[in-house]
Amino acid sequence: MRLLADFIIILIRICDKMAGLLLRVQQLLTGILPALLPPHELTGMIRNHYDGSYKDVATRLPETWYKWTLESWEEDVLARYKMTSGTILVLGAGVGRESIALAQRGFAVVGLDINRESLCVASQQATAKGLKPRFAQADFLALPVGPAQVDYLFMSGIMYSSIPGRERRQAWLQNLRPCMNEQGLVVLNFLIARELGTNTQRLIHRLNRLLTMLPGANQSYQLGDTCSQNHFLHAFVDEQEIRSELHDTGAVVDHLSWQEGHAVLSWSRNDANPLNRPGA
Ligand SMILES: C[S@@+](CC[C@H](N)C(=O)[O-])C[C@H]1O[C@@H](n2cnc3c(N)ncnc32)[C@H](O)[C@@H]1O
Repeated sequence: MRLLADFIIILIRICDKMAGLLLRVQQLLTGILPALLPPHELTGMIRNHYDGSYKDVATRLPETWYKWTLESWEEDVLARYKMTSGTILVLGAGVGRESIALAQRGFAVVGLDINRESLCVASQQATAKGLKPRFAQADFLALPVGPAQVDYLFMSGIMYSSIPGRERRQAWLQNLRPCMNEQGLVVLNFLIARELGTNTQRLIHRLNRLLTMLPGANQSYQLGDTCSQNHFLHAFVDEQEIRSELHDTGAVVDHLSWQEGHAVLSWSRNDANPLNRPGA
């Protein structure tokens, strides 16, 4: 019996080693994908990812699985800017977490998401709670909102990081400006790079720099790009990277929390005083 137990212990150790090795191979493969695929295919991955994860969401998951509440950083932003009323456009609304919580606080909310099934859950929940946020299926990369008077735009769930390439993110941000009213605020949530110093990550970046020299490679690849969550995300390497990216769009970075990964932008420095905001 002792012999058998020893044999099993050795097998467990071998499995552990193989699992570690496979994890590193997986990291390597997901790490090089952003250098290979063009931006439109990287953004296509996110659509497929959410189509899969929201499949039959209304019937599959118990209602208690979701929380229709704000995250603490979102609460902080509301308090910091004394936001109490006005119109809010929520990009990537999902099952309505922040849209419903914001509607409960009295905001006029429009939630957009690319996934229809998630929006059905959001609408049902809102109706059950006697709220009237509006939800629409739309791609936030091709915002179907013309010149508008939105007071606040919320993009939570690190979705700012889902746009591949610094220039594309900047162009996207600049396109938001006509949707906003003069004192409007854009609230963005982004991913922070936490493990760029590892040997695997350094190897991936060196490989990717070589790969981007090949024809057809993704020329907008940057350090911090990854597909490790089943879809593209750009993890910002340091505060300076996100700060300069946002600043170079011409927007005013009213507030940036590197630790929590969010930023608040506006387009008019004279109106940066939180007391001048709608609802203040
Ligand atoms: C991480 S979830 C966040 C959900 C919700 N905002 C929250 O914070 O709980 C990201 C959401 O963005 C949506 N999404 C991803 N890409 C999108 C796009 N290009 N246009 C609109 N919605 C998108 C996904 O379908 C998903 O519901």
